[in-house]
Amino acid sequence: MERIHKIVAQLLKGEFPEKEGLKELLSFPTHPAWEVLKQAARHVRKRYYGTDVYIRGLIEFTNICKNDCYYCGIRKSNQKAERYRLTLKQVLSCCKTGYRLGFRTFVLQGGEDGYFTDEKLCLYVAQIRKRYPDCAITLSVGERSRESYQKLFDAGANRYLLRHETANSGHYAKLHPSELTLKHRMQCLSDLKQIGFQTGCGFMVGSPFQTLDNLIEDLEFLVQFQPEMVGIGPFIPHCDTPFADEPAGTLEMMVNLLSIIRLLLPKVLLPATTALGTIDPNGRELGILAGANVVMPNLSPIAVRKKYLLYNNKISTGAEAAESLADLKQRMERIGYQVVTSRGDYPKE
Ligand code: 5AD
Repeated sequence: MERIHKIVAQLLKGEFPEKEGLKELLSFPTHPAWEVLKQAARHVRKRYYGTDVYIRGLIEFTNICKNDCYYCGIRKSNQKAERYRLTLKQVLSCCKTGYRLGFRTFVLQGGEDGYFTDEKLCLYVAQIRKRYPDCAITLSVGERSRESYQKLFDAGANRYLLRHETANSGHYAKLHPSELTLKHRMQCLSDLKQIGFQTGCGFMVGSPFQTLDNLIEDLEFLVQFQPEMVGIGPFIPHCDTPFADEPAGTLEMMVNLLSIIRLLLPKVLLPATTALGTIDPNGRELGILAGANVVMPNLSPIAVRKKYLLYNNKISTGAEAAESLADLKQRMERIGYQVVTSRGDYPKE
């Protein structure tokens, strides 16, 4: 108990806590200390962001992927996934709808689809940039070369999301085939940051083989890397993957980690992710109340939404969908927060 008090005190000061104590605290996900940390996380979040909630319009523009990550529903080996790719025209139409609804950030997310050469992807980015000069463009399209990232930045992209998935290379190797390495993932993240992207990393909570020590390594990596954005979500099994029978990550662990991340990185842009909304109908609200400050409603054409299935039961309608923004706004207001229409960049000061 003594030890847990010490950990809480360290976190409240924004210090990285002593590891053994942190591990003990993480092993009691419903310990009353978490309530204290959650309140503190909300307090810290208010300092930079008040009660504003930023929205990002998520456009899942291709589910074709050359990788075979063991956890992911759109992995190459999943023959059952119905593959699709959105044309430039379709993507621009998503942006048009989104802009009208009040979105000022578009997130282009997709698998590692060989069709999207630098030339093709830069064309998509440049066309959005030309039409929406006041909007931020975020890319989430996996590992590419430094030259490629530079071209995308020069074409007008501002932010890049690339989850590191786990900061432990042994654990990384249990989640991915051997062609994929943590070393290369880290190289990509450092290239992105050096180029000048607002960069996001992140990991799954409760992924197969994950230990509490792994989670601590993830937190240490976040503090060292100082990302502008962090995306975390519970692992959720997908029936047509090697991890079909593995248990999902828990809501408690998720919200506890959101609070710790907010305390360690006070200014970070931290979404209450779709996966969190999927494991609990109030996941979004609980995430915001734990220190998150971003939500990413789906702007993809309704016809393809069910095909971008990273995990089972992924929500794609209701408050999750961009067209139900009114519902999302209400939900946020009910808990004392408000959705704002602005780019929501990482604060400079
Ligand atoms: N459960 C939860 N998250 C998943 N992702 C991929 N598959 C799953 C799953 N089964 C996450 C990964 C990836 C992001 C796009 O989605 O962390 O980086």
